[in-house]
Amino acid sequence: TEKPTIYKGLVGVYADVSSISKVMPETNSLTYRGYAVQDLAENCSFEEVAYLLWEGELPNQQQLEAFKAETAAEREISPALHRVIKEFPADAHPMDTIRTAVSFMGLEDPETGDISDAAQRRKAKRLFAKIPTAIGAAYRASKGLEPLAPNPKHSFAENVFHLVQGRVPEPEVLKAFDVSMILYAEHTFNASTYTARLVTSTQADMHGAITAGIAALKGPLHGGANEAVMHMLKEIGDPAKAKDWLHGRFDHKALVMGFGHRVYKSGDSRVPTMTKYAEKMAEVVQDRTWMEISRILAAEMLEKKNIHPNLDFPAGPAYHLMGFEIPLFTPLFVASRITGWSAHVLEQGEDNRLIRPLSWYTGPEQRPVPPMASR
Ligand code: CMC
Repeated sequence: TEKPTIYKGLVGVYADVSSISKVMPETNSLTYRGYAVQDLAENCSFEEVAYLLWEGELPNQQQLEAFKAETAAEREISPALHRVIKEFPADAHPMDTIRTAVSFMGLEDPETGDISDAAQRRKAKRLFAKIPTAIGAAYRASKGLEPLAPNPKHSFAENVFHLVQGRVPEPEVLKAFDVSMILYAEHTFNASTYTARLVTSTQADMHGAITAGIAALKGPLHGGANEAVMHMLKEIGDPAKAKDWLHGRFDHKALVMGFGHRVYKSGDSRVPTMTKYAEKMAEVVQDRTWMEISRILAAEMLEKKNIHPNLDFPAGPAYHLMGFEIPLFTPLFVASRITGWSAHVLEQGEDNRLIRPLSWYTGPEQRPVPPMASR
């Protein structure tokens, strides 16, 4: 038979239907359940958006309060997980430690093995509540510090700062962080979300799907790019050096991290909002260096290569200016994307069919196994 068309990287392939989010590259826009992301980012808290992704509608005041109380009560992680975290190598990457911690949470989950919709929803909320606690505990353990207890009175954003940095910053910083969480929450069939759906398609459970999603998100072509962006900005170090540095990359045909996107070819819908809040962080910290280098890189990439920045480009410096260390940037992405991943796990479960594509064989023709002496 003739070789079929191969869609390398599954470029342009519609693998399923979904009612969670919609990317419209023609207009550089993205909606979650019909609401424009920038509208959600400016007007809602991350908790409201998490509720929206799972339930399909924004919560009213009463529903929001109930949701906040329910998830705040689930923030503690077990003494056993705290002990395991203390045993992690101090130089382990925080993406590997959060992947391992989530996998461990699966062992302990009271409904482990139950993949009914109701149980999977409860597991999603438990993961949403506990992931920041595990990120904070692992980060602090790597510095030889004791973990901090989550505060049930804190908002999601306040809790993350408290658990990791041991401080709750001013409202402007909390708002910028919340905006980043909202923008990172969901993005159709990206690599990590598709991974979570693929795992779910075998009837494996929520913790398995999310563990695999975290593994996929780590790579620098995906979520790992927000860390790579900040390493790049630090390497450049000075706005005056930005253009020459970039031209050096062009000479080697090297990737410039935080630029390009599989779906958006004329601009990422989330970038203007995140850039606005990253600029606010530069004002708060009184350090314009990183946003100035960013501005030069973005203008030059557009002029010379016609390639636009993606969300990781402003998110990297924003997290740096908020006081997070670079290896925590992609784990923060996890703390947000758990909402989108788990919404997709639930959706996949609604009318599941095993995901199992085909490969076109290009190896040797069938042949006999030679005896050992003649190999
Ligand atoms: N730097 C330099 N050139 C680039 C870049 C970049 N960042 N991105 C794309 N190009 C070039 C690419 O080399 C190709 O050129 P040519 O046609 O001459 O071979 C052209 O643009 C088209 O790109 P592509 O490789 O067909 O794009 P893709 O859809 O396969 O890959 C991507 C998308 C995101 C993996 C890629 O743009 C990339 O590696 N970017 C850098 C990593 C990054 O920022 N990732 C974050 C992705 S978005 C948010 C997230 O998932 O966290």
